[in-house]
Amino acid sequence: MASKPWSGRFIQKTDKLVEEFNASISFDKRLYRHDIMGSIAHAKMLAKVGVITKKESDKIVGGLKNIEKEIDAGKFVFTYDLEDIHMAIEKRLTEKVGSVGGKLHTARSRNDQVALDIKLYLRDEIKEIQNLIKNLQKTLVDVAKKNLGCIMPGYTHLQRAQPILFSHHLLAYYEMMKRDYERFAGCYKRVNVMPLGAGALAGSPYPLDRDFVARELGFDKPTDNSLDSVSDRDFCIEFCSAASILIMHLSRFSEELILWSSHEFGFIELSDAFSTGSSFIEIGDAYTTGASIMPQKKNPDVPELVRGKTGRVYGNLFSLLTTMKSLPLAYNKDMQEDKEALFDTVDTIKECIKILSPMLQTMEINKERMFNATKGGFLTATDAADYLVKKGIPFRESHHIIGKIVAYCIKNRKALEDLTLKEWKWFSKVFDEGIRKIISIETSVNSRKVKGGTALEAVKKRLKEIEREIR
Ligand code: ARG
Repeated sequence: MASKPWSGRFIQKTDKLVEEFNASISFDKRLYRHDIMGSIAHAKMLAKVGVITKKESDKIVGGLKNIEKEIDAGKFVFTYDLEDIHMAIEKRLTEKVGSVGGKLHTARSRNDQVALDIKLYLRDEIKEIQNLIKNLQKTLVDVAKKNLGCIMPGYTHLQRAQPILFSHHLLAYYEMMKRDYERFAGCYKRVNVMPLGAGALAGSPYPLDRDFVARELGFDKPTDNSLDSVSDRDFCIEFCSAASILIMHLSRFSEELILWSSHEFGFIELSDAFSTGSSFIEIGDAYTTGASIMPQKKNPDVPELVRGKTGRVYGNLFSLLTTMKSLPLAYNKDMQEDKEALFDTVDTIKECIKILSPMLQTMEINKERMFNATKGGFLTATDAADYLVKKGIPFRESHHIIGKIVAYCIKNRKALEDLTLKEWKWFSKVFDEGIRKIISIETSVNSRKVKGGTALEAVKKRLKEIEREIR
C-alpha cells in the first residue's frame, strides 16, 4: 500500500473499508486537467515570490505537464489508496521529479485546491452550456421562420383559448432560453473568483501573490475571506439551480411535443430517427416485433426522457442544498459529496439540450391539423366581444352577450362562422356584416399587433430583434 501524504501522524493503517469510503478518486478524476492547471499557476507563483526557486518551479511544471499527458493517454492508474485526484497527481509528481515534487503543496491545502478545481471546471462547462443554449435558440428561430404562416390553437388550462402563430409559440421557448443563458452568465461571475491562498481555512503565512494566480488563471479577482473561500459551495448550488430552471423549460417543451405527437393532437410527427418502436428484436437479418404486442407504435422516447431526467436534476439541487445546510465553517468532508451531484447535472443538461435541436429540425409539422384545431371551438369569441366593445357596449356586457351566443351555437351544433347575420342580430342590434371578418381566425391572429403579440407583423418584428441577439 502506498503511504499517504498525510500519514505522518498515524500509527495504524487505514482500514480498507474506510479507504474506499473516503475516496473520491472514482469521480473527481475528471478534474485532472483543472487540478494540473491550478497547480502550475501555484508553482509559478511560489517561485515568483521566492518560496521555491525558479528551477524547482520549472521542474514541477514540467512534471505536471507530463502527468497530464499520461492521464490524457489513459496510462495513469487510479487507485483508491490515493483518495482523490489532488493526492494522486501529487504522488505521481514526486515519483517523476523526486522530492522537489513535495514542495508543490507549500502554502496550499486540498481545501482551497478543491474549491479552485471545481471553479475552473465549472467555468468551462458553463461556457459550453451557454453555447449549447445558443444553438437550441437558433434552431427554435429556424423552425419558427420556416413555419411563419402556421396557425394553431393557443391554450389555457389545456383548453383551446385563442388562435396563435405556431412560430409565436416556439419563440416563447426562445425567451425562456434567453433567461437561462443570462442565469448561467450570472452564475459564472460568482464562479470566477479565485480561492487559492485561503489555505486550510485561515489564509497563509507565506507572502503569496494571489492576484498573480488569479490573473494567470483568468479569474476576475481573488476571494476576500479565507473561511468563506474554502467553505463556499454557493456557486455549485447556483449552477444546479440555473440547471433546474433550464431543464424545467426543456421538460415543459418536451411535454408539449409528446402531446402534439399523439394521435389525439396530431400536430407534429417526430422523425423515425428520433422515435422508437416497442421492443424490436433483431433475429438474423430480419427485424421482427418480438416482445412487442403493439407493432403500430411510434414512441416519443426522446422528449419523454428529457422530461424524466428533470427529476434527477432537481434531486441534485436538493442534495447539494441539504448537504450544505448545517455545516459549520469552514471545510467539512461532507462537501466531497458536492461533486457527483454537480457532474451529473452538467452531463444531464448537456445531453438534453444537445438532443433537442436535431429532433426539432427533423420533426414534421402538420399545418392543416393545427389550423383545423382552431375551428369550431369558439376561439375567436373574445374577438367578437371586442367587436361589441368597439361599438360602444361595455366589456362585461359584451362578454355576457357572446356567452349567450356560444351557448346558442353549442345547443344548435353550430360554429361562430356558421351564424347568419340575422342570428347575430337576435343577440344584439349592433352586429353588422363586419362581424364575419372579425371572427375569422386569421383576423384574430393578425389583430394582436401589440408588442409581444402573436400577429404576423409583431412576430416578424421580434424575429428581427432576435437575429441581432443571437448573432
Ligand atoms: N476530496 C476532497 C473533496 O472533494 C478534497 C478536500 C479534502 N480536504 C481534506 N482536508 N480532507 O472535498
